Amino acid sequence: MGICLSARIKAASPRHTGVNSKHVSTEGTDLSGSVSKGSAVSVPPTPRSEGEILQSTNLKSFSFSDLKMATRNFRPDSVLGEGGFGSVFKGWIDENSFTASKPGTGIVIAVKRLNQEGFQGRKEWLAEVNYLGQFYHPHLVKLIGYCLEDEHRLLVYEFMPRGSLENHLFGRGSYFQPLSWNLRLRVAIGAAKGLAFLHSAETKVIYRDFKTSNILLDSNYNAKLSDFGLAKDGLTGDKSHVSTRVMGTYGYAAPEYLATGHLTARSDVYSFGVVLLEMLSGRRAVDKNRPSGEHNLVEWAKPYLASKRKIFHILDNRLEGQYSFNIAYKAANLTLRCLSTESKFRPNMDEVVKELEQLRDSKETGNARSNPSSARRPRRRSAGDASNANVAAAYPRPSASRVVQRIQRPIKSARPDLTRPIMGGCVVCSARLRVQNS
Ligand SMILES: Nc1ncnc2c1ncn2[C@@H]1O[C@H](COP(=O)(O)OP(=O)(O)OP(=O)(O)O)[C@@H](O)[C@H]1O
Ligand SMILES: [Mg+2]
Repeated sequence: MGICLSARIKAASPRHTGVNSKHVSTEGTDLSGSVSKGSAVSVPPTPRSEGEILQSTNLKSFSFSDLKMATRNFRPDSVLGEGGFGSVFKGWIDENSFTASKPGTGIVIAVKRLNQEGFQGRKEWLAEVNYLGQFYHPHLVKLIGYCLEDEHRLLVYEFMPRGSLENHLFGRGSYFQPLSWNLRLRVAIGAAKGLAFLHSAETKVIYRDFKTSNILLDSNYNAKLSDFGLAKDGLTGDKSHVSTRVMGTYGYAAPEYLATGHLTARSDVYSFGVVLLEMLSGRRAVDKNRPSGEHNLVEWAKPYLASKRKIFHILDNRLEGQYSFNIAYKAANLTLRCLSTESKFRPNMDEVVKELEQLRDSKETGNARSNPSSARRPRRRSAGDASNANVAAAYPRPSASRVVQRIQRPIKSARPDLTRPIMGGCVVCSARLRVQNS
């Protein structure tokens, strides 16, 4: 099966110039000005070859030796994280020449190195170059360049100093303070804006892998989406969905997509609902270490989300005292609508952004009407508390146990059992659903 990627970009794209250091910050913040809208050039999607895609971007083409030097020979202690694609390393390049520079000087970069053999890895690498090479938006991570040399395929991104939302919600150790209610809202709004941009008429892209590890944070907790390896061109003409093999991550994929392979922008909205629920509850989408009946977060939480009296059962107790009852209820209600089993009842991402902004702008503040049973527990310090304003601007390497946890397993069958109930109880691991040739 050929690679089906859109031809939306042309070299004349007005958005970013990959090699222009004005768009890359040493702090991971956006130095290009206050861009509220992203940009992309829209032309009818047609399949394009690897050569055409690479030629049409303004991304910097790095040599393998450049990146080897920039990461100090891919030193194990510069590993930022590990995913299904490969390891991600921290490195440094000169802001003008883009050649390797001394650690601590020039621009900080994150280098993702493909370590999988085969078609799927190469396809995801190219999809990333294709999409991130053409879109510029303050809530999408910036791709600076790539390396394609012999068997080596790498991607070079702006470095995001606070790592992933996953680390902040579930990371252990003293570095990762639990995020405050306000910061969670800020991150949710940023990620929602990124997704709304992708779904907009201008871009029409379905992201397909929305999850906490793909939401990266800059030093000001601005959220940026990364990983476009599974992204798909959205609808054209009068089609109601795109048909694909099922790909994504267990726990986040929409039920109708799992059952039929029919992908729509509303499948992303469902995944957004799962992430909102993870932010509200502080629990992972799928966690086999929980008691039985609580492995799948959505299944467990839905009855509580629907009841005004019960939502405290699912709210992260690290947030106590930081939100008002009404705001928490509204957030739970929005989450529930995103998680609607029937996709037509889910809001679109523009509506989600609007509602989240209303929650943020509400004058209601934290009050004492939280769960009375937990009122005696001391509140834990959160990132976002005034006392934490100066936390370090870089995050430590993840522990070995987390790296092992992220290793991903291929799923051999093309689709999960179609007769299985929605997000059935057997979906209890966070491995990615991977099949050939989506
Ligand atoms: N640009 C970046 N800046 C800083 N850290 C990054 C950057 N990109 C990735 N990381 C870190 O590397 C980790 C691994 O990223 P990667 O996207 O390869 O895998 P993943 O999202 O955990 O899993 P998956 O392969 O399922 O997407 C991220 O969770 C994050 O902590
Ligand atoms: Mg990722």
